[in-house]
Amino acid sequence: MATRTKIAAANWKMHKTAAAGHTFLQELAAESVLARLDQENRMLLFVPFITLPGALSLIDPKMLGAQNFHEAPQGAYTGEISLPMLKDLGLGSVLVGHSERRHVFGESLDQIAAKTSAALQQGWQTILCVGETLEEREAEDTEKILRQQLDTALKGVLNDPTVALSNLIVAYEPVWAIGTGKTATPEMAQSAHKTIREILNQIRIAAGDTVPVLYGGSVKPDNAAELMAEIDIDGVLVGGASLQLDSWTAIVAAVTAA
Ligand code: PGA
Repeated sequence: MATRTKIAAANWKMHKTAAAGHTFLQELAAESVLARLDQENRMLLFVPFITLPGALSLIDPKMLGAQNFHEAPQGAYTGEISLPMLKDLGLGSVLVGHSERRHVFGESLDQIAAKTSAALQQGWQTILCVGETLEEREAEDTEKILRQQLDTALKGVLNDPTVALSNLIVAYEPVWAIGTGKTATPEMAQSAHKTIREILNQIRIAAGDTVPVLYGGSVKPDNAAELMAEIDIDGVLVGGASLQLDSWTAIVAAVTAA
């Protein structure tokens, strides 16, 4: 079986001023757990835009990513940030399709497809988030929703064999588990991750075996290790518990030890 990179990704969302973020990153940079990071064990930090410029002096830009972007390179899009602007800062990673973008900001499947295509075509490491709502899970539609979200997001790059899926990371984030304290059990997460791999294998040969698939939704220091013990879970995408240094470093330690 393919060895996949293990990834601990933090999504700060709209938390911390630039000054507070700077202090956090200064302290994080001094943490011993960072010594465990290498090609096989990686950390990614999705911080607010205003925190990014200052963060570059503290953290390797390869570890920093943007929570959002517009798919056009430039234009009359008030309030938006483009991929070339982020590239100019030295960043290499973006989040796409987060459930808050889908459900709070109403991003459509087509918009998420346009963003995913733009990011992958331009060589960005792209974390594509997918996941079902509680109603969809209760209606036993989880697989259908995951298939729809993956198929539509990746359709733009499917017919273009020059676009490497080696830059793709998928995050399974059941909507009912995000910020609610309700984590999917390791068995539930494992089952969804296996389904995601099967769908990815149908989209492109062997993609399911090589693309890292992260779990997100109320990950905490006390459940990270049991989630990481599942065969198809390659890492975590963490919101709330990434905001405190002690809980975040404990989660990074659990991921890199798995
Ligand atoms: P949470 O958020 O860890 O606070 O549940 C996860 C996410 O939204 O990525």
